[in-house]
Amino acid sequence: MRAVWFTRYGGPEVLELAEVPEPHPGPGHIRIQVRAAAVNPYDWKVRTGAESGGRPLERPVITGQEASGIVDEVGEGVAGVAPGDAVFGPTVRGAVAGFALLRHWGPQPRNSDFVASAGLAVVSETAERTLRHLGAPPGATIVVHGGAGGVGQAAIQLARLRGLAVVATAREANHALLASLGALPTTYGPGLAARVAALAPAGVAGAIDTAGTDLDELIALAGAPHVVSIANHAAAARGAVLTFGGRDSAWDVLPRIAALVEEGRFRVPVERVLPFREAAEAHRLSESRRATGKIVLVPDLD
Ligand SMILES: NC(=O)c1ccc[n+]([C@@H]2O[C@H](COP(=O)([O-])OP(=O)(O)OC[C@H]3O[C@@H](n4cnc5c(N)ncnc54)[C@H](OP(=O)(O)O)[C@@H]3O)[C@@H](O)[C@H]2O)c1
Repeated sequence: MRAVWFTRYGGPEVLELAEVPEPHPGPGHIRIQVRAAAVNPYDWKVRTGAESGGRPLERPVITGQEASGIVDEVGEGVAGVAPGDAVFGPTVRGAVAGFALLRHWGPQPRNSDFVASAGLAVVSETAERTLRHLGAPPGATIVVHGGAGGVGQAAIQLARLRGLAVVATAREANHALLASLGALPTTYGPGLAARVAALAPAGVAGAIDTAGTDLDELIALAGAPHVVSIANHAAAARGAVLTFGGRDSAWDVLPRIAALVEEGRFRVPVERVLPFREAAEAHRLSESRRATGKIVLVPDLD
């Protein structure tokens, strides 16, 4: 099959089309014929080597961590899904390829298509995971720092569905977007704690940090144990929760996300659709940190 991979760490230009062996699903996995793959910041952090802990690249890496497509092979022990089903989910070893393996998935929402569902999984799992860590009771107010990004928008929506009030940060151009999701908007940066306190005079029960900045202000607002960060490596040393998924992952949320999309109660907007061969441009767009919707790659390889 054709895939987009890199054989050395570097800028977007290291991404190249390659002919690679097709994967086949082991126990608990399914294989999909990929119809769309979404780009996440993790993809370019892996590509630059920033996630490697200084270790050299041992083997080529197929880029991408989530996709949508049609099930065409089902591994041993898998129930509830069959060849021909349309699904979306996180991929096991790369997404921007003819075929991909999934260990977790949700059914494609009936009112959705492959492009729209390709980017549902990572942001919604991450948002759900941070909300579970916070455990704020209905009626409480939380802060979503970095509310206009993919994870931020998902966190605002899932928080509102839990009955939480939300104060969210973004640059001013994105404040109407935050308000449309049901959050009270404010800006990043110095004075954040005071601005949030003015919007939530009864105090906040916690803060979700998707931005990786303003940690002192978030801790001042919520107290370190009630700050959950997905983006600031200094958070754990300060007594905040730092999560990257793993044992605490929340992939079980995917079928519920599919249902919420069908009911019109949850959305992950798509900002740009590009062919696989323009994967480098897709990474550049994501790396610009300006996107407020998913950047999605569709196969153009055969
Ligand atoms: N730990 C985990 O499990 C996990 C999982 C998923 C993602 N992440 C990380 O979480 C972060 C957010 O991911 P995402 O998918 O939501 O990203 P994204 O969709 O690419 O976020 C884009 C948003 O980031 C905001 N932004 C731009 N520059 C910023 C800055 N200097 N500081 C803070 N925010 C800035 C922008 O909003 P404004 O223009 O309004 O600022 C933009 O809308 C990334 O670092 C990603 O790697 C971690």
